[in-house]
Amino acid sequence: MRSDANIAGPMTDPVPGPRTESTGADVSRETPPPMDDTPIGRAAQLAVEALGRAGEGLPRPEQTRVIVVANQKGGVGKTTTTVNLAASLALHGARVLVIDLDPQGNASTALGIDHHAEVPSIYDVLVESKPLAEVVQPVPDVEGLFCAPATIDLAGAEIELVSLVARESRLQRAIQAYEQPLDYILIDCPPSLGLLTVNALVAGQEVLIPIQCEYYALEGLGQLLRNVDLVRGHLNPALHVSTILLTMYDGRTRLASQVADEVRTHFGDEVLRTSIPRSVRISEAPSYGQTVLTYDPGSSGALSYFEAAREIALRGVGVRYDAAQAHIGAQQNDPSMVEGVQ
Ligand SMILES: Nc1ncnc2c1ncn2[C@@H]1O[C@H](COP(=O)(O)OP(=O)(O)OP(=O)(O)O)[C@@H](O)[C@H]1O
Ligand SMILES: [Mg+2]
Repeated sequence: MRSDANIAGPMTDPVPGPRTESTGADVSRETPPPMDDTPIGRAAQLAVEALGRAGEGLPRPEQTRVIVVANQKGGVGKTTTTVNLAASLALHGARVLVIDLDPQGNASTALGIDHHAEVPSIYDVLVESKPLAEVVQPVPDVEGLFCAPATIDLAGAEIELVSLVARESRLQRAIQAYEQPLDYILIDCPPSLGLLTVNALVAGQEVLIPIQCEYYALEGLGQLLRNVDLVRGHLNPALHVSTILLTMYDGRTRLASQVADEVRTHFGDEVLRTSIPRSVRISEAPSYGQTVLTYDPGSSGALSYFEAAREIALRGVGVRYDAAQAHIGAQQNDPSMVEGVQ
């Protein structure tokens, strides 16, 4: 139910600009000068409009939405999606926690969170029963965004969890005991269906599956969907696949649109109208410890994640997403907005 009370208020510092001081002078920028009448110029114009709207806020859910970002296939954009959606939602005024559940610690890195071996981490929460509040860190640069980091210790957790009591529901318990108010928790899963992913599926209500627009995109998904069914049947009746997001979409290739059509036929309404283009800026941002939203807010990648976040937020309160009002609607079909041309 949407009401004025759950609309995020304007933020004092809606969108930090590109951080030239930490990124170095040699980093190229997608954001062009204002007079430019090129695809890039149009993108920047749209970015300014989109980011301006960030301060208006989006409807916030009445209860914390716990979204599990999972796909056992590696490198499909789980981490990229987790951190950029989380940043987009936070920039829209929501309070968001990212739980890094992958021993690689990529989400922690991308959010600029220290995660060397001694840092209190999600491993301590899962295996040592440390309260979640003791490992959560604020993300620099994005107000309202927090991260529970993963350290390399987590690599052993799959084995260590096996002998522990309530091994599948340790994350769920930790989240239930966490008292800070949150609008969203996004859980970044490892590329496997082991106990870490099962813990995430038991803890969440929603599963978001990023699908890379490549050949074999749907292969292996059956196994993930069966696991979701099993967890729903035995441990977590609320669990459902709520969202499919097409990632690394390259509008110049027929393959990408074929895969997108196939995914839409297969999953229907769960597939977000917004897809994420292949974008150099998206892949560059983590090496600066940033999301693309702060690294280059005017880029097509930042805009698409903003738009995907808007769609997710509106769906959460039952408001129909109007693609005609999308800030990037034109770009989605504009082949010049993909990698190599932007
Ligand atoms: N839209 C995009 N455009 C360009 N590069 C992208 C995009 N999305 C992700 N990438 C890059 O693709 C690689 C894989 O992405 P990511 O790490 O998010 O996938 P993942 O599913 O989390 O991988 P893993 O299974 O290893 O956890 C990364 O190098 C990332 O920077
Ligand atoms: Mg990852």
